[in-house]
Amino acid sequence: MEDKPARRRLVLVPASAQGHISPMMQLAKALHLKGFSITIAQTKFNYFNPSDDFTDFQFITIPESLPESDFENLRPVLFLLKLNKECQASFKDCLGQLLLQQSNEISGVIYDEYMYFAGAVAKEFNLPNVIFSTTNATAFVCRSVFEELNANNVLAPLKDSKGKQDELVPGLHPLRIKDLPTSKIASLDKILELYKNTVDKGTASSVIINTSSCLESSSLSWLQQEGLDIPVYPIGPLHMVASTSTSLFEENKSCIEWLNKQKQDSVIFVSLGSLALIDINEAIETALGLDNSNQHFLWVIRPGSIRGSEWIEHLPEEFSKMVSGRGYVVKWAPQKEVLAHPAVGGFWSHCGWNSTLESIGEGVPMICRPFSADQNVNARYLECVWRIGIQVEGELDRGVVERAVKRLMVEEEGDEMRKRAVSLKEKLRASVRSGGSSHNSLEEFVHFMSTL
Ligand code: UDX
Repeated sequence: MEDKPARRRLVLVPASAQGHISPMMQLAKALHLKGFSITIAQTKFNYFNPSDDFTDFQFITIPESLPESDFENLRPVLFLLKLNKECQASFKDCLGQLLLQQSNEISGVIYDEYMYFAGAVAKEFNLPNVIFSTTNATAFVCRSVFEELNANNVLAPLKDSKGKQDELVPGLHPLRIKDLPTSKIASLDKILELYKNTVDKGTASSVIINTSSCLESSSLSWLQQEGLDIPVYPIGPLHMVASTSTSLFEENKSCIEWLNKQKQDSVIFVSLGSLALIDINEAIETALGLDNSNQHFLWVIRPGSIRGSEWIEHLPEEFSKMVSGRGYVVKWAPQKEVLAHPAVGGFWSHCGWNSTLESIGEGVPMICRPFSADQNVNARYLECVWRIGIQVEGELDRGVVERAVKRLMVEEEGDEMRKRAVSLKEKLRASVRSGGSSHNSLEEFVHFMSTL
C-alpha cells in the first residue's frame, strides 16, 4: 500500500491572553481546513484546554519556569518582556525536539507579534516564520513609528500628566497623543522596548493581520508600501472565517434566555474583556448611571475585575437592587452570541480588538471606554473614522454613564450610528466571502506558505 504524503505542519505560538488565544485558534482552524497540520505551542499562563473542535491538533507546552504570580504581578508589558526572555531557550528545546520527530513535515512557525522569541528561535533553525498581528493594522503602524515619535519629542506629553495630550499626532490622523497605544502601568522606556521587538520583522517572510481592508485601508497601505518590505495579508475578521469555541472561562448561557425576553435593540451589553480592572467606585457609578438611563442592560463582571474584590461582594447592598430591575449580571457571557442577539442595541466596551471586530461584525454600535494599549486606537477609530461609537473620556461618574447610554440607545444620534454599523457589518461580511478582500488574502497566504 502506498504511503499517504504527510500534510505540511505549521507550529503556531499564541500569546497567553484570551484576546490573543482566540484569534490564533481561529487562524489555526482556518489553516487546518486548508490542509495544514497544526501544532500549538503555548505557555502555562492562561493555558487553552482544547475542545472537541481541535482533536486533530497537536498541543505542546513550552516548559518555561516563571512563577504563576508573575502574570498578575507584572501586568502585561513587563510580563511579556520577561516571558520572551525566559521562553527563547525553552522554545528552542521544544522546537528542536519537534524537528527531530517530524523534520520533513514542519514547514514554518507562525507567532503572535508579542511572542517574538519564537521568530528568533525559528531563525536559528532556518525555519520560515510569519508574524501574526492579533491587534489591528493601525496599532501596528503606531508601534512601528513609536521610536521615531519619541526621538522627535512627540511623546513628551505622555510623561507629564499635564502635557498636551489632546494634540493630533503628526502623520497619524485622527489619532491624538492620548490615543497612542500606551499604558499607565508601565514606563515609556519599557513600552518602547516591547514595541521595538513586536515590529522587528527579523527573518519573518510575511505578516498576517486580523483585520480587513474595508476597515483600515490607509494603515494597511502604509505597512505594505513603507513600513514593511515583506507581504502583509489582512485576513480578518477571523471569527467570521473559522467559528470555533475558544473561551478560557465558563460561559453563562442563561443570559441568552434573559435576552430572549427583551425587545429588539433595547439592551446595552456591558463587557470589559479579559484583562481590564476597575475600582469599586467606578463599578458603583456605572451601576447608578445604567440604572438612571432607564435602559435594560446585560453586564459581564469578571471575577477579580473589581480591584480588591473576588467578585461583587464589596459592592453596597443597593447594587443588587439597582441591577435586579432592568439588569442582568453574569461572570462571563457567550459574547459573540450576545452581540448577535436582536435584543442587543449597543455595546459598552473597553474596545479590545476582538470585541471591536465582533461588535462591528453584528452591526452593534459602541460606547468606548478604552483602558490601555491598542484599545485607545480602536476607540478613536470607532468614534472618528467608522463613526459608530461614542467615546467616554475622563473621570467616570453616573451622569456621564447615563448621558452616553441615552445618546446611543435612545437618541437619533444612536440610530444613525446603528445604521452605519449595519452597513459596515455588510462590508465586513463581504470581505470574508468568496471573492472578498480578506478571503483572497487568506488564499494568497495559504499559497505562499505552501510554496515555502
Ligand atoms: C487583549 C487586549 O486587552 C486587547 O486590547 C487586544 O486587542 C487583544 O488582547 P481583551 O482585553 O481580552 O484582549 O479584549 P478583547 O480583544 O476584546 O478580547 C476579549 C475576548 O473575550 C473576545 O473575543 C470576547 O468575545 C471574549 N469574551 C469577553 C467572552 O467570550 N465573554 C465575555 O463575557 C467577555
